[in-house]
Amino acid sequence: MNLSREKPAADYETVRVDLPARGYDILVGQGLLAETGRHVGAVARGRRCAVVTNEVVAPLYLDAVRASLEDAGLTTEEIVLPQGEHTKDLRHLGDLADRLLEFRIDRACILVALGGGVVGDIAGFAASIVLRGIDYVQIPTTLLAQVDSAVGGKTAVNTRHGKNLLGAFHQPRLVLADIATLETLSTREFLAGYAEVVKYGLLGDADFFSWLEREGAALYEGDHAARRHAVVTCCAAKAAIVAGDEREAGRRQLLNLGHTFAHAFEAETAYGTTLLHGEAVAIGMVLAFELSVRLGFCPSDDAERVRRHFAERGLRVGLEGLADASWTADSLLEHMAHDKKALGGALTFVLARGIGEAFTSSAVEIGTVRTLLEDALRV
Ligand code: NAD
Ligand code: GLY
Repeated sequence: MNLSREKPAADYETVRVDLPARGYDILVGQGLLAETGRHVGAVARGRRCAVVTNEVVAPLYLDAVRASLEDAGLTTEEIVLPQGEHTKDLRHLGDLADRLLEFRIDRACILVALGGGVVGDIAGFAASIVLRGIDYVQIPTTLLAQVDSAVGGKTAVNTRHGKNLLGAFHQPRLVLADIATLETLSTREFLAGYAEVVKYGLLGDADFFSWLEREGAALYEGDHAARRHAVVTCCAAKAAIVAGDEREAGRRQLLNLGHTFAHAFEAETAYGTTLLHGEAVAIGMVLAFELSVRLGFCPSDDAERVRRHFAERGLRVGLEGLADASWTADSLLEHMAHDKKALGGALTFVLARGIGEAFTSSAVEIGTVRTLLEDALRV
């Protein structure tokens, strides 16, 4: 008996995104990459797949994914993109689409997006337009992608007019979130993803936020059970929201908690590496709670808990060391007005009546927001 050839079975939990005709499973656990072939094979219409990844993720995980796909009888083509947010543009989308067409793909082929949110967003968008739409699977390898971008079918690229302005809703056939991939993530990227984890507690699950207050350090230090519980909880929360509001007409807007502010900070820093998306969202959520306090909706103790938790975990909670003299309340408001979430120039804010009780409002006086921003900039 040759035991060395036996691979340990993956240990995972399943979350269902319950959409009529487009429902799919999110598998969260460890060892899933080694089982990619079995899971992709179960949802694929044919036996051919194209794996899209990037130059950072490929040396780490592409061999395991390819071997598993081939073991399951799937043939693979591979496209390795450069890494970085700049990859999410029309030029790279065009190149990616051309490469897929060069492979003479047909509608029975399935695309596999292996990487963080950048790879997932551009590969998902390519899948939505090539041959008017082919199936795809998300294999998210960052914390942010596992708890947010790989779930829910939003796909996009950036244009010179702004971020994520060209895209489509195109649900994946399957999401495989192997938490073992988080072990190679930098501390900074992990923390940026952690901000999105906290978001789920703040918007609708006070008990989860309390759990994060207790277990956040363990999560950060690599505790597998804690990481898995966090990813499963976030995916279940997002799955429920998406199942009820796929196109963001209502409750899905709550997922934008902190994002209107974050968008302005990211625009000021030109979407570069000065401020990662999750880092901007953490500051944005602190401000959204502060705004809720000023508007009389939220107890100040709750806003303080939010600020303290992010600070304890090592995330920025304000604009200190970030904003220079060119940042003004008006320039930030201008960026907010150009956010695609603004409707007819009216800003919608996600506010909170307390931790776990978010709601949306389009009736916030802009003067209150201006004063809040002026105070935030007075550092
Ligand atoms: P990212 O994809 O740029 O990944 C961050 C960095 O980590 C990159 O350098 C990447 O190469 C590297 N990396 C990825 N996996 C790794 C691993 N396991 N080990 C080591 N390094 C690894 O960034 P992100 O934070 O995952 O995603 C951000 C993008 O997601 C943005 O473009 C944002 O607009 C988008 N987004 C989309 C949605 C959505 O609903 N579609 C939601 C939130 C964010
Ligand atoms: N990341 C926000 C959403 O998926 O709606």
